[in-house]
Amino acid sequence: MDYRGFIDEQVERIKQAVGSGLAINALSGGVDSSVLTVLAHRALGDRCRTYFIDTALMREGEPEGVVKTFADIDVPVTLFDARRDFLGALRGLTDPEEKRCAITETFYKGVFGKLVRETGAQILLHGTILTDIEETVAGIKRQHNILSQLGIDPEKEYGYKVVEPLATLRKDGVREVGKLLGLPERVWNRIPFPGPALATRIVGEVTEEKLAIVRRATAIVEGELSDTKAFQYLAVLLSDRATGIRDGKREFGNMIAVRCIESRDARTATATRLPWEKLERICSAITDIPGVNRCLYDLTPKPPATVEYI
Ligand code: XMP
Repeated sequence: MDYRGFIDEQVERIKQAVGSGLAINALSGGVDSSVLTVLAHRALGDRCRTYFIDTALMREGEPEGVVKTFADIDVPVTLFDARRDFLGALRGLTDPEEKRCAITETFYKGVFGKLVRETGAQILLHGTILTDIEETVAGIKRQHNILSQLGIDPEKEYGYKVVEPLATLRKDGVREVGKLLGLPERVWNRIPFPGPALATRIVGEVTEEKLAIVRRATAIVEGELSDTKAFQYLAVLLSDRATGIRDGKREFGNMIAVRCIESRDARTATATRLPWEKLERICSAITDIPGVNRCLYDLTPKPPATVEYI
């Protein structure tokens, strides 16, 4: 594929869609939204307002880290604190699709509805990619960023239009575009991270306490595995508990599943054959987290598993 041609085409498409108005977009720090952000700023300059929405579901140090990375390449990003909105919307929900739905509604109706009214933007630019669309349409899961493909008319429901410049690309193509747009390698080559963030890494109800556990486990796994060439690695907090021993006493503790996969585009995946010593180090650090007494390594390929647990 001619990725330079793709960039020119999409820059033109964004310019035409936005005209002399304003657009907004949300940057999560993941590969897709990072590439979209640079593409949008190339097309619109400061007529694209980029927000980092703090959903309370982000990784350790992520809000400040992402804002700084983009400040370094002269793309201003505004932090928007929506932690209470998301935690409130997720309270009491255990069903994976209901959790995804609550996140979608909070994002598009609550947060973006407010930002669109405040900024006067008419267009929301979205980093949806082809795999998100295909899996949603196939009924595998509702990717939180899919709207029109699910029969949701954003203009009618939320009051703004959505434009999806990356919708014909898969992850490998998005990385090529990011590279050509001059993003630092640590951004375009970053492991994928889902829009609903750590909510996809907690089986069952999302609470602040569980988020703190999975956030710590995520930092451990990412720190240990960043020197591998794996496609993606993650930690998941399971909803079951198991008996263990801590300080000579019985403890009914939490379990963390670690996943590390080889894949080209996330449509299929196999578990990475990690060195045993690395697994032992990860296990030891994870079971040092208070309340966690088991660490499991997930060997399941996709299919039958998906990459995330919800
Ligand atoms: P699954 O779990 O569907 O994940 O096998 C495939 C790839 O997509 C990422 N993923 C998402 N990305 N919004 C996103 O932007 C989502 O709702 C979402 N759900 C999963 C996942 O991390 C993996 O790379």
